[in-house]
Formats: sequence, structure tokens, C-alpha cells
Amino acid sequence: KYEKIWLVFGLVSLIVFLSIVGVSAFSHGHTPAGGMTTIDPKKVNETAPFDKPGVTQIDDDTYQVAIVAMAFGYTAPDLKVPVGKEIIFKVTSTDVVHSFTIDNTKVNMMVVPGQITTKSYTFDKPGKYLILCNEYCGSGHHYMFTEIEVY
Ligand code: CUA
Repeated sequence: KYEKIWLVFGLVSLIVFLSIVGVSAFSHGHTPAGGMTTIDPKKVNETAPFDKPGVTQIDDDTYQVAIVAMAFGYTAPDLKVPVGKEIIFKVTSTDVVHSFTIDNTKVNMMVVPGQITTKSYTFDKPGKYLILCNEYCGSGHHYMFTEIEVY
């Protein structure tokens, strides 16, 4: 009788332990300065700011960039942002887990369906930056990339 109780206790502890490890790995590893908000993955196209993906100027020093990731590409036409301004990236996925990684920067966001991942970044050099997915998301994973122009 006691053995069964201990077995259940052990399993419960294991689950609690794994979820703590999972949650902390997630929050520390991928979005250190960002946050998470939930979103209905089926209604991404109707939910602001993803109803109008792309660059929006918020004020003199701040721009927001809304991006939808899906297999196998990013919906965000005409990504052009100024150098030296705060760029707030907001990214979500409509299908599976992707990443939003800007080459040669510290931007490396995990993009999860049902969640909005936010990260603020200021580019200090103009140029064209490669955006790619470094989270394996299926057969087209390697074709999943786009570009952002910093002027
Ligand atoms: Cu999307 Cu890999």
C-alpha cells in the first residue's frame, strides 16, 4: 500500500521538476528581455498587430515590427527599420515552434503558436541582416529565411 503512495509521489515530483526545468530553460534561454502574451493561433490574422504585419512607427524613437512565422516562411513584407532606434519585435506562429533569429545580432527568439514573443533591439550598424529559423520545424526548415534592411 505504501509503495503505491511513494510511486505516485515520485511521479508527481518528477513532473513538477520537469516543468520547472522546462519553464526556466524556456524563459531564460530564449527571451531574456522579452515577454509572452497568449494569442489564438487560428485568429492570428485578425488579431492586432498581426492583422497588419510589418513595420509600424510608434514614436520618434520607437518602431514595432509584427511578424507571423509559419512553415516555411515569415509574413512581414518590406522589413526596413532605421539604425539607432528601438525596434520592438513581436512574433507569433500559426503552426509549430519556429525561431526568429537575426544573424549577427542578439535577437534569437523562440516563436511558439499561441504566444506572442516580444524583444526589443537597437541596430547600431546599417545594412541587410539575414533572418532565419534555427528551430527545426519540418521539411522546409532550411528554406525558412528572410531579410531586414537597416538604414
Ligand atoms: Cu521554422 Cu525551422
